[in-house]
Amino acid sequence: MNTPPPGPAAAQALLAQATRTLAETGKQVAQREFPFTAADFERVRQLIYRHAGISLAPIKQDMVYSRLVRRLRALNLNSFDAYLSFLEKGAAAEWETFVNALTTNLTSFFREAHHFDLLRSQLSGLGHRPLRIWCAAASTGEEPYSLAIAACEAFASLAPPVQIQASDIDTNVLKTAERGLYPAERVARLHPDRLRKFFLRGAGVPEGHVQVRPELQKLIAYGRVNLLDTRWPSVKGPLDALFCRNVMIYFDKPTQYRILQRFVPLLQPEGLLYAGHSESFLHAADLFRPRGRTVYERADRRAPRG
Ligand SMILES: C[S@@+](CC[C@H](N)C(=O)[O-])C[C@H]1O[C@@H](n2cnc3c(N)ncnc32)[C@H](O)[C@@H]1O
Repeated sequence: MNTPPPGPAAAQALLAQATRTLAETGKQVAQREFPFTAADFERVRQLIYRHAGISLAPIKQDMVYSRLVRRLRALNLNSFDAYLSFLEKGAAAEWETFVNALTTNLTSFFREAHHFDLLRSQLSGLGHRPLRIWCAAASTGEEPYSLAIAACEAFASLAPPVQIQASDIDTNVLKTAERGLYPAERVARLHPDRLRKFFLRGAGVPEGHVQVRPELQKLIAYGRVNLLDTRWPSVKGPLDALFCRNVMIYFDKPTQYRILQRFVPLLQPEGLLYAGHSESFLHAADLFRPRGRTVYERADRRAPRG
């Protein structure tokens, strides 16, 4: 059935709304210090896709403007065109800043808590050989420290036989991660026992902050890894667990597939791949088989006997 045309009152309301939206958009553009055209945005989209695999949605235009405009000011450039040309000429340090500016680093301690419960039982079942975990999009460190805490809990020790490699493409977040100093509200939802055991306050720790215990820090080695690179020489396998959560969501399916192909030989035959809550690798069924709750095992893993 066709929708009847709106009456005069509804038409007037629609017109008023459209006028308001136009005025708002005009205001936003007028408030912009530098013009940022659709072609500029498209150029940024292509550059970040080629360098980091990140597919930027069209609605990210304002975000991109506000994050990059600081670079124009800092470099004393008067247009996005000039900035992007400077970048394309290959200034290595600027590439790092460009990528750092465009990543999204949202994370938290024990995000998707069920993964850490599973990891604890996985680790305790593996005995005392040195165990290896790679946290492939570590952001500001909450995830690798949660892994370290889960490992300590699995072995009831502050020195479990576990090595954690934590990486990210963004060098700024890695600095924060390595420091292990967080505003107290970041840990407000942790169980008080965990807080007491694994974080320090008071002497030497700035007011309103907590410091991760040095024993946890010792379990983790940080380094920059771009998942898009064709080689990851710093990552040492075989891995018992690979946490790659809430980053594949920024990549398209072919990029995800190529990365997953390189995960397979890095994992122990019984190793587990932990993905983010909205990530699915069903398009890579020849590589990984779901184990439930966004955990995957190698598709070539033999079924247990009996
Ligand atoms: C939303 S955070 C997820 C953090 C954490 N894994 C979690 O689930 O809480 C995504 C992280 O992926 C990183 N990232 C984006 N593209 C990347 C790439 N090509 N290689 C490695 N890390 C990347 C970003 O810098 C960011 O810190």
